[in-house]
Amino acid sequence: MESLSELTERARADITASADLTRHDEVRVHWRGKKGLLTEQLKSLGGLPAAERPAAGQRINEAKSRVQVQLDERRGLLEHDAVERTLSAGRIDITLEGRGEQSGGLHPVTRARLRIEKLFSDVGFTVAQGPEIEDDFHNFTALNVPENHPARAMHDTFYLEPGQAGEGTLLRTHTSPVQIRALRAGKPPLAVIAPGRVYRIDSDATHTPMFHQIEGLLVDTDVSFAQLKSILHGFMEAFFERDLAMRLRPSYFPFTEPSAEVDISCVECGGKGCRLCKHTGWIEVLGCGMVHPNVLASCDVDPDRYTGYAFGMGIDRLAMLRYGVNDLRLFFENDLRFLRQFRGG
Ligand code: PHE
Repeated sequence: MESLSELTERARADITASADLTRHDEVRVHWRGKKGLLTEQLKSLGGLPAAERPAAGQRINEAKSRVQVQLDERRGLLEHDAVERTLSAGRIDITLEGRGEQSGGLHPVTRARLRIEKLFSDVGFTVAQGPEIEDDFHNFTALNVPENHPARAMHDTFYLEPGQAGEGTLLRTHTSPVQIRALRAGKPPLAVIAPGRVYRIDSDATHTPMFHQIEGLLVDTDVSFAQLKSILHGFMEAFFERDLAMRLRPSYFPFTEPSAEVDISCVECGGKGCRLCKHTGWIEVLGCGMVHPNVLASCDVDPDRYTGYAFGMGIDRLAMLRYGVNDLRLFFENDLRFLRQFRGG
């Protein structure tokens, strides 16, 4: 049998050789555990003559505490190493240069929309929303659009396949149906603006199949065309932040009577004539008119008692004019070099 000093020497070598905490724990169990080698030694005392037992027991106990001290020291060292390793693995070099943070910005069309909403909210209009997938009734019939109107034709309007979202559904061609919904849900007096995406089969430098509109509707007793003209002129000057001349040209919309097309003096040349206004000095910005009695009636509003005005304009177009963008498609290509120019004010 190995002598006690041989055993403690082996234990010391094992302890020193344990390279990590797992191995250290195995070594501890091997030597100092309940079934460890030194504990076994104590058990063997029973075989000694009674007179020798106390001295032998004391030697074994001393050996056990020496081994324990060595184990503790080694453990302390290994724990320290482990902490050091974790720290250096996760080390952050705070002297390195940062990668820089770029703040985003609102899309120019969104900025124009928010601006328009704010200007109309300031004079008492509320913002209304409605579905982009509409039915024929709200998009056309309730708006007095006749059966044979070209807007109803397949080549102008995106219709959904029958069964896709119900019979006769389409992507709304304007936000006027939102106003129909607002008028049918509430009672006059009412003043709403309806911003949102609209869809038409059209695509060139000034038309995209999806674009943004904002339409306004005000219904009350004694609403006049003069009030319509005044609010539009005020809005245009506030939106472009300058004095503008405005003119109305007679026009036709099924849902308004009389109807007008509205021009403002060219925001580029001030009316002298340039490429933007095709040398006319005027830029067309919106359509408007007095709400047709049939439209009021289809919303259960008495046309003998109430009158109203309505107007509609393209947000993208107004954004183009305000920011000097000459191709509508730029708004939708999402080229960051283009969009970043609008980040600021
Ligand atoms: N809904 C019309 C369009 O999309 C715009 C408009 C609205 C015209 C209200 C007059 C009155 O063309």
